Amino acid sequence: MTNHLYNKYVKNMTLEEKTAQLLQLAAPFFDKPGEHSEITGPMEELGIQYETLRSAGSVLGVAGAEKMMAVQKAHLENDRHGIPLLFMADIVHGFKTIFPIPLAIGSSWNLELAGQSAEVAAREAAVSGLHVTFAPMVDLVRDPRWGRVMESTGEDTYLNGLFAEAFVHGFQGDDLRNDLTRVAACVKHFAAYGLAEGGRDYNTVDLSERQLREYYLPAYKAAVDAGVKMVMTSFNIVDGIPATGNRKLLREILRKEWGFDGVIISDWASIKEMVAHGAAEDDKEAALQAIQAGVDIDMMTTSYINHLPELVQEGLVDEKLIDEAVLRILELKESLGLFENPMRGADPAAEKEIVFCGEHRQVARKLAEKSSVLLKNEGVLPLEPGQRVSLIGPFANSGDILGWWSWTGSKETAVKLGDAMKAASGNPSHIVIAEGSGIDSISEDQLNEARKTAAKADVIVLAVGESSDMSGEGGSRSNIKLPEAQLELIRSMKELGKPLAVVLFNGRPLDLHGVYDQADAVLEAWFPGSEGGAALADILYGKVNPSGRLSMSFPYSVGQIPVYYNSFRTGRPKPEQETENRYISKYIDIPNEPLLPFGFGLSYTTFEYEDLTLSSEVLTADTPLEVKITVKNTGLRAGTETVQLYVCDIAGQVVRPVKELKGFRQIELDPGESSEVVFRIDETLLRYHHSDMTIRSDRGEFILYVGASSRDVREARFTLVK
Ligand code: GLC
Repeated sequence: MTNHLYNKYVKNMTLEEKTAQLLQLAAPFFDKPGEHSEITGPMEELGIQYETLRSAGSVLGVAGAEKMMAVQKAHLENDRHGIPLLFMADIVHGFKTIFPIPLAIGSSWNLELAGQSAEVAAREAAVSGLHVTFAPMVDLVRDPRWGRVMESTGEDTYLNGLFAEAFVHGFQGDDLRNDLTRVAACVKHFAAYGLAEGGRDYNTVDLSERQLREYYLPAYKAAVDAGVKMVMTSFNIVDGIPATGNRKLLREILRKEWGFDGVIISDWASIKEMVAHGAAEDDKEAALQAIQAGVDIDMMTTSYINHLPELVQEGLVDEKLIDEAVLRILELKESLGLFENPMRGADPAAEKEIVFCGEHRQVARKLAEKSSVLLKNEGVLPLEPGQRVSLIGPFANSGDILGWWSWTGSKETAVKLGDAMKAASGNPSHIVIAEGSGIDSISEDQLNEARKTAAKADVIVLAVGESSDMSGEGGSRSNIKLPEAQLELIRSMKELGKPLAVVLFNGRPLDLHGVYDQADAVLEAWFPGSEGGAALADILYGKVNPSGRLSMSFPYSVGQIPVYYNSFRTGRPKPEQETENRYISKYIDIPNEPLLPFGFGLSYTTFEYEDLTLSSEVLTADTPLEVKITVKNTGLRAGTETVQLYVCDIAGQVVRPVKELKGFRQIELDPGESSEVVFRIDETLLRYHHSDMTIRSDRGEFILYVGASSRDVREARFTLVK
């Protein structure tokens, strides 16, 4: 290799030093060698020699400029070649300023704000000493039982790809070496982790290569095409082989087909876990499979440092593979300018100014406003400032609104709903707060206090939901209803016969039985982040008109799962009109349709769609179609509408979804204002993976849909001729 990094470093490193460069350990190993915590376990158990630490390549989970600088300084004094450590952590939806969870951001359909949130997160992380974030997570998810659905942007491949690109650009900017306010991004979890059977985390994933390529891979590719610096392998198997040891996935598709030449990192212990999968006899074989598949960094286990040297000495691994892995890691360090400036953006003084500053919190507030989705409203919202409001529920004044992966975020400084409503109402004494119940417990005293509070109210606002640890990693639920205690609280408040609004705090689409049917209004807040309460109060009092649109279906019940808008028709589709016919694809006890469809969301105003026109009814490979539709704000308030464009390929070489999102426009309209929205359809939008894995379109009939959600659409037809 003629590479200058090879000549300066790799060539002069011992085999042990090179394999140590492939090691990533959690912070406690570095800032207090010898101590251990529940996150790391005793160093001895991991079989790590202190000597090894001298040459380790990266560290996970150090937060704070001073701490990072101390660890880096100590490391550079020990590392024989003076190779700086990479500092990495999970900055998924904010560092200290916590943004709404990604599933909420997905419901904003606002790519610019999504990019801004990543840019702010990077600014706070970089000044605190971090170099790489383990984000964006772009796993396609169609099963809300899976706890990590909160980390995704939803059920649509196309939308997820747009968000992936926005996040990567936000984190990395376009000059990572010189722009010390940015960090390298790491797209995860490659691949198809979100298809875990039964929605049970870490469970088996099994799908056809065509499904994988058509629906599950494109968002990762969008991140790679956007220049993401690192890819993290997933815990699951792909076609029977763990992703972390899957050469077809990593060497063939990721590196060869997509041209990704950056660093591949395992997920936490996912190399060692190939033994538990039954894919490797022992840790040594796991190390062999992972290095051959092209995994560069072993996160949090010692498979590489304990076995790669002997595998090389035994002639089972070509040392060149290790040199290549080391080189990619050194190139990442160089792309961040670490060799010249190992402390990079770490700056204790600036950290105090930048982290959690007002400007950042304003972005978080804006995004929380845009991510909230009005799911129902029968004359209750917005609230009137003079109304006496009884705010009841475990989230009435709770700081647990940051959601999973809010690591250094502080629940204590989160803006709580009750406090914000008092401020926004103009009449703080008109807002009376009662807990009403716990997350999953309720007492007569709590109920009596809630009834007493509500007795004097003009309107009841219930703030209910899941605690943040009921979703996130390891947070899969078999029952996705609200906990029974909260359903009891809702029933009790309903009995009072007063207008009832529900604000939901949750990390997944829920089964809303006992909520949607009971409430007059339902506002989906998700986990709205550091400024969540303030954003919600402004929505509840009408200072902000909600504009979120669901990026994931809310099932009618858990029995429907997986339920998603772009499904296949089947040979016995259930007709629109009711039928007694038993022998069609349906349930005998519930509807086929989700309670709330992809793309759905209400506003405090109303919009009308008219004059859908096509520039032609014939599309050819070199003459695109222009689609026009007029949207009018027919209500009394200004509002934002997300106009959605879907296409259905009526008959393909393989069966095609009943509709697929192919574009959207967010428009702001004043009362009475109309706007003509224009989309352009060209033949490339109609291409898909055929059964021979070629990507092309088919001539024939297509239906085009434009509307306010995947269900509320107007249609037109066109023909693609070759
Ligand atoms: C976890 C997660 C991954 C995260 C990593 C480091 O197990 O699967 O998303 O980035 O470990 O915390």
